[in-house]
Amino acid sequence: MVKAVAIITVSDTCYKDHSKDTSGPKLAEFAREMFPEANIHTLIIPDEKELIERELRDYCDSNTDLVLTTGGTGLAYRDVTPEATKAVIQKEVPAISIAIATESLKKTPMAMLSRSVAGVRDKTLIINFPGSKKAVIECFEVVRPVISHAISLLQ
Ligand code: MTE
Repeated sequence: MVKAVAIITVSDTCYKDHSKDTSGPKLAEFAREMFPEANIHTLIIPDEKELIERELRDYCDSNTDLVLTTGGTGLAYRDVTPEATKAVIQKEVPAISIAIATESLKKTPMAMLSRSVAGVRDKTLIINFPGSKKAVIECFEVVRPVISHAISLLQ
């Protein structure tokens, strides 16, 4: 059973003005629909690698089954979510990122600009999503069919 899901919005802009966060609430909505029994934690943090790493570690170390991040996957100087994710995971799951990229490229060539990572730390699955509501909707549809099974494999 999935007990806890964390949604982390990584964005300097949304950190300053929480009302600008539209992708985090969308991911939280998807998580609530998929795991109605789970506690859904949401958090908005700036694009700071060490802070992202710390929050990822804290959620993983407190028995969170699934952590979904949104934002900071692009090419801008402050985009460091994939680097922070790589620093905390023990196993990368490259085919999740490949599937997201493959399907996303059918929607927009801009998908080439996302460096999203997916992987496992202990018993937690972490998946990076780009930082727009549109991207989150498109990318979540790609991973939706595998998330429950992936989590069950970690339990
Ligand atoms: N993927 C999908 N499916 N749909 C999108 O609209 N936007 C792209 C890309 N991936 C997009 C997408 C854009 S415009 C950027 S810049 C990158 O994700 C990185 O976004 P991020 O830096 O907000 O994470």
